[in-house]
Amino acid sequence: MSDPVRILALETSCDETAVAICEAPGRIVASRISSQVLIHRAYGGVVPEVASRNHILAVRPLIGEALAEAELTLAQIDAFAATAGPGLASSLLVGNTVAKALALAQGRPFLAINHLEGHLLSPFIGTGAGVRPCVALIVSGGHTSLLQVRGFGDYTLLGKTRDDAAGEAFDKVAKMLGLPYPGGPEIDRYARNGDPERYRFPRSMLDSGDFAFSFSGLKTAVLYQLDKLEAPRESCLDDLCASFQEAVVEILVAKTLRAARKCGDSLVTVSGGVSCNSRLRALFAERCAAEGLELLIAPPDLSTDNAAMIAYVASLRHAAGQADPLELDVDPNLSIVST
Ligand code: KG4
Ligand code: ZN
Repeated sequence: MSDPVRILALETSCDETAVAICEAPGRIVASRISSQVLIHRAYGGVVPEVASRNHILAVRPLIGEALAEAELTLAQIDAFAATAGPGLASSLLVGNTVAKALALAQGRPFLAINHLEGHLLSPFIGTGAGVRPCVALIVSGGHTSLLQVRGFGDYTLLGKTRDDAAGEAFDKVAKMLGLPYPGGPEIDRYARNGDPERYRFPRSMLDSGDFAFSFSGLKTAVLYQLDKLEAPRESCLDDLCASFQEAVVEILVAKTLRAARKCGDSLVTVSGGVSCNSRLRALFAERCAAEGLELLIAPPDLSTDNAAMIAYVASLRHAAGQADPLELDVDPNLSIVST
């Protein structure tokens, strides 16, 4: 029996250095992540210059770890891939330069992968069924978008945020509350003991009739509420987190299910870092069950930034006979749909 096709992919679009190996068809045999969260926490957010320097330090040992995990050598890799955008230019360049150098040295093809397509298709990893038609919500630190997926490579944008991404709103509100970066997991943790109805924050654009989102007004509403607090902030933290989180999650769930109804899709997928949120998972599960919709959300390690999702997309593109020229530049603003 011949060896399966193997792709090694690098993800360096923001502050996680990640390497993964995917064996066709869609089987992840290694996935390693070196997180810079503790480095950037000191600055309250990601510092691009610091991120790219740390990618350079982390990437080579991580490739060695991934190969060791898969019990493979570089010579057994059939193609090399890297996230080409969207993301921080100086961070993207590290993964792209390394993947291109490996492709050149090994005489193998190179594939430039869209980070958002990685998130979009991550719920299908390990399902064994490939990409299925669905309505897909991507909710991350940089993006909040609703798409209709008709199949691999066939995506229509239904709507996106007009201002902050949902994850960005979590991170900014957490900062206002004095919680460390990244704020999403912190708010999730405090909210577990809080009353989501104590403060009634606005559900912006819930009834706008389209699939656009807006979270900046909600963020401002939390700021005004902080000014009005009668008790010390610490004593209201759980309720503030729960009330803010409930507003975000309600908007995301309501609009996604409305899109599924409009598009006639029976499968809903949710991806990106914010899909780790425990309340988001619970409310999506409850409402999808009530409407007879199937729900797919990747496990948390495939929801936040990782290279397995990049390797997965690369393996699908490689199987479709696609490759990219080594001259292709990174694109910090790369879009998931052609406009
Ligand atoms: O997908 P991701 O790792 O990176 C981007 O591509 O942006 O998403 C990171 C975002 C951050 O804003 C982080 O606060 C948020 O995901 N996040 C969460 C949770 N875990 C991560 N937001 C809410 N609840 C969580 N449990
Ligand atoms: Zn991401």
